[in-house]
Amino acid sequence: MMPADTQPRTVRVDLADRGYDVVIGPGLLETLPQRLDAMVMRPRAAFIVADANVADASGRCRESLERSGIAVGVTTIHATEPGKSIATLAEILRSLGEARIERGEPVVAIGGGITGDLGGFAAAVYRRGVPVIQCPTTLLAMVDASVGGKTGANLAIGDTLQKNMVGAFHQPSLVLADTRTLGTLPDREFKAGLAECLKHALLGGCLGDTDHLGWFESNTERVLRREADAVAELIHRSVAFKAAVVAGDEFELAEDTPGRVGRALLNLGHTFAHAMETLKGASPAGRPADSPLLHGEAVALGLLCAAETSAALGLIDRGLGPRIARALEACGLPTRAAGLPDAMRLLSLMGADKKTSGGRLRLVLPTPGCTARVVVSPEVSAVEAGWAAIKGA
Ligand SMILES: NC(=O)c1ccc[n+]([C@@H]2O[C@H](COP(=O)([O-])OP(=O)(O)OC[C@H]3O[C@@H](n4cnc5c(N)ncnc54)[C@H](O)[C@@H]3O)[C@@H](O)[C@H]2O)c1
Repeated sequence: MMPADTQPRTVRVDLADRGYDVVIGPGLLETLPQRLDAMVMRPRAAFIVADANVADASGRCRESLERSGIAVGVTTIHATEPGKSIATLAEILRSLGEARIERGEPVVAIGGGITGDLGGFAAAVYRRGVPVIQCPTTLLAMVDASVGGKTGANLAIGDTLQKNMVGAFHQPSLVLADTRTLGTLPDREFKAGLAECLKHALLGGCLGDTDHLGWFESNTERVLRREADAVAELIHRSVAFKAAVVAGDEFELAEDTPGRVGRALLNLGHTFAHAMETLKGASPAGRPADSPLLHGEAVALGLLCAAETSAALGLIDRGLGPRIARALEACGLPTRAAGLPDAMRLLSLMGADKKTSGGRLRLVLPTPGCTARVVVSPEVSAVEAGWAAIKGA
């Protein structure tokens, strides 16, 4: 249980006229009407896109909006990767139309990254764009998915699910990370969110923060006990990091120039992760074979692959891989995956990732001092060494 309440903390995503606040703290959903007032947004109506597993949180938000005189429509979605589809997007768009939502009237996305990505995508394209308020309810969505304006859906092509192949950049008008909602989040999902926090810590040096990784390692136990101040500090650190990167490269266009932190670096571990996520049979070693990897678990394993690939290329010393493995073990995250195919198949799946450019594989790999860089067409043997590090029974 999350003990005593803490004061909200705010991080500003500094994007000129598209800038917004990310507010972190308990009980924030009920404050949405006042915050809309403060932003001079007084809509006649709002439309909630809610994850079916957070009915309570969505109800609290709905009641507070209705009490302040705002008409509220609601649609509920079941958050699964196959269901993060164009078909679900179409249903949300139809509901928005049926509720006669007009320009300027916000979509309020309440749920994990799947709900945020779909709700945000619907807001980006409905009537050529209405505002979106992101209300993340998983740790992963609080520290990553809700911040930065990437929205989207998966595409089923043949027998593979291509992750986030369609989407739009659509910055939220506000992000409310109500930490009270984490009270119902299952442990496995909470731990999966820690993988993205570790990723941010591993990149801290890119913005001169070399203490981030040490803080993460020293506070893992407190975070796992869900001590309110440790969880709030973790979210705050991660969001502050992501917000700074997004503010410097909103549309992921920055070249990999020394001294410039491109948004592409946030893909650390993700090309490996996406390859695993497209496979039907991959699961965390030690779990039943029918227990597919969660996104955060795939990212955890991808971070290890990236460190070992980097070591095999001689970009970093061999100590980072074991350090990441220790951090993952402390978090209760997997360090091995079962059900992986041979290296050739994995390499071809990596080639299908949307981060590939001109047919060449582009991998983000860690470099010394908690930094990273993009490596184009890395040696195949080094990538194979990365995969070998996580292959389990
Ligand atoms: N847009 C971005 O920048 C970005 C960044 C990272 C990840 N993502 C996307 O986010 C998705 C993963 O997000 P996620 O890990 O939040 O997963 P998710 O949305 O699938 O949620 C995980 C599970 O937790 C349930 N859940 C959510 N909140 C809950 C709560 N408070 N209590 C109980 N159950 C709850 C959901 O119903 C679901 O079963 C992926 O599709 C990924 O591609 C997007």
